[in-house]
Amino acid sequence: MIIAIDGSAASGKGTLAKELAQHLGYDYLDTGALYRAVALSLINSGMDENNITENQMVKYASSLNIALTRSAKIRSSAVANLASKIAVMPSVRAKLLIFQRELAEAPPSGQGAVLDGRDIGTVVLPNADLKFFIDADINIRADRRTKELRQAGQSAMFCEVLADLRMRDHRDKSRSVAPLRAADDAITIDTSNLDASAVLQMALAYI
Ligand code: CDP
Repeated sequence: MIIAIDGSAASGKGTLAKELAQHLGYDYLDTGALYRAVALSLINSGMDENNITENQMVKYASSLNIALTRSAKIRSSAVANLASKIAVMPSVRAKLLIFQRELAEAPPSGQGAVLDGRDIGTVVLPNADLKFFIDADINIRADRRTKELRQAGQSAMFCEVLADLRMRDHRDKSRSVAPLRAADDAITIDTSNLDASAVLQMALAYI
């Protein structure tokens, strides 16, 4: 079984995806980590991010070091913002799409896969067996992300995090290629007033 989970930033989609994969014994792919890792490799290269061309960015995506997706450094707000700028580039998306589909088609567990991101149910895996769209009030999302960043030892101000999420949501929803939206056949869950275990139980009930 393949499960696609999409949603806005800090909506709880990653937590749900991880817990579902663990519960079901499936593989999990955090596709946002791929975009973040491409952003981090650009930062690490020292190149000026404002003058980079799409062709140059594709090279970073093609030669992506997967170990970077596990680096704590990809979790900063700066990397998240740069990831969402890179994510508007169609040829970068096309490169990362191949990797995502390969994992879903042949999950190492041999059981199934859970992928989370922005365009999994609409573009990457339109034939997924089950699709969820996760959202929550933006103030609640900003509060969760502020706490998450602080727990990871980063300095984070609620109002800055809120502004970042607002800008990123807007960029993700308004881009012309693979914009963030719920697939027509997705089940929407609003997590504003639900904790992680309630969301997991709800998703398991659908499954
Ligand atoms: O953790 P959070 O929800 O804040 O972000 P993420 O899922 O790690 O994604 C970071 C950025 O990558 C997003 O703002 C999107 O611009 C981009 N992304 C995307 O375009 N498509 C995906 N499937 C996943 C992420």
